[in-house]
Amino acid sequence: MGIAKQHAPVKNRSRLETSAGMKAADGCAKEVANLVRTLYERLGGRSGIAAIVNDLVDLHLENPVIRARFVNSDANRLKEAATLFFCAGSGGGESYSGKGMLEAHHGMNISEQEFMAVLDDAMAALEKQGVGQQEKMEVLFILHSMRKEVVRV
Ligand code: HEM
Repeated sequence: MGIAKQHAPVKNRSRLETSAGMKAADGCAKEVANLVRTLYERLGGRSGIAAIVNDLVDLHLENPVIRARFVNSDANRLKEAATLFFCAGSGGGESYSGKGMLEAHHGMNISEQEFMAVLDDAMAALEKQGVGQQEKMEVLFILHSMRKEVVRV
């Protein structure tokens, strides 16, 4: 077979060789590369997470379902602790030396409704900071997995 014949005719080119196909492959490669990055990196590292937590705590302080829980809190101290907690838990190098979830919420008799209010505020804070859908799902999953250490403990 001559060299020219080894090349498929244009109409038989695989989808990947078309420009739409190339774009799809490129998008797919970017998606894979993105998943390899830690959640910490994808949330914007320490400063990105600090901005999310800042909005999150501010939303808690305005949320009628849970704001009463925080009347005696030092908001800045809570923001600092929660930032380190999220940094350490999402793959950052920071270490968290605050209370564990069980210890932090023990005896508060936190309801399902209050827990949902925290998740709602978390989604709103992520939205406000322009965090992508994939990362929002991962954060929601992580927060939800702590439910048993927070609700009615
Ligand atoms: C998955 C959900 C939650 C996470 C990841 C979380 C995380 C935290 C963290 C990291 C702290 C700081 C602990 C420390 O100071 O060492 C904390 C404290 C606290 N959390 Fe949560 N929390 C969650 C849900 C809730 C819910 C549903 C409520 C009730 C509305 C709540 C109320 C509080 C209060 C009142 C404090 C003490 C604040 C203070 O010391 O001033 N948390 N939480």
